[in-house]
Amino acid sequence: MSVTVITGANRGIGLELARQCIQRGDRVIAGCRNPDEAQELKDLTPVSLLPIDVGDEESVRSFSQAISEDITLLINNAGTSISNMGFKREEVGVLDAPVDLTLDMIRINGLSAATVTRSLAGRLGSGSQVVNVTSQIGSMVVGANFNDLPYATSKAVMNMVTVQLATQLKEKGVSVVAFHPGWVRTDMGGSTADISVEESAHGILSTLETFPHEDSGSFLRWDGSIHPW
Ligand SMILES: NC(=O)c1ccc[n+]([C@@H]2O[C@H](COP(=O)([O-])OP(=O)(O)OC[C@H]3O[C@@H](n4cnc5c(N)ncnc54)[C@H](OP(=O)(O)O)[C@@H]3O)[C@@H](O)[C@H]2O)c1
Repeated sequence: MSVTVITGANRGIGLELARQCIQRGDRVIAGCRNPDEAQELKDLTPVSLLPIDVGDEESVRSFSQAISEDITLLINNAGTSISNMGFKREEVGVLDAPVDLTLDMIRINGLSAATVTRSLAGRLGSGSQVVNVTSQIGSMVVGANFNDLPYATSKAVMNMVTVQLATQLKEKGVSVVAFHPGWVRTDMGGSTADISVEESAHGILSTLETFPHEDSGSFLRWDGSIHPW
């Protein structure tokens, strides 16, 4: 049976990825900050819930120690935005953004892909896949015109983590891919965004089904097309 681990699985894209993975028969281990409050996730039976705050290394360690199965697919999905952290867009441009806010966001949105993956590396064998849910805003091309330094740099860090993990895990047979999930209707994307969580999650999961290991280290959109770095 395929074992899929997803972080930030209590709402948004992560919740829908969990739903679709359960539907196709995966055993899903879902990580979220507050399992007791994750009612929608709990309703998706069968699912195993574990607490994780991806910005806290001790929490990441406890999460990984609680997983004893070999993992088929690890999805580093958890992520935050400046509004979740109490800031407005006009406060976070490159000429204004507080350094501490920027570093906190890099830790949560970027470096967590490294800390979570490294803590689970012993459970990732040949043929397994790691997905980093990044953003087009982490690309140099798109990010140049998006004046939110904390979010853009955090996803640029995630992109670098992706290519470095791909190099380090290549010989082990583990593929690592960064996915821009689209502009998705979630709490983060807002109600006027382009696509539904269903479309985004379905696109990512179906792209992975035929993803060749030789292409590990790619930056893709949810529909499988290549995104420029
Ligand atoms: N929606 C879009 O248009 C869009 C576009 C590009 C990229 N993305 C990326 O897609 C991913 C999912 O976004 P979404 O749209 O589904 O956002 P969302 O609805 O705001 O959900 C974010 C999820 O991440 C979790 N999370 C936040 N900080 C966390 C932490 N420190 N530790 C553990 N979990 C944490 C949240 O948990 P809590 O409920 O505990 O806060 C929630 O489950 C994110 O990485 C985001 O950057 C989204």
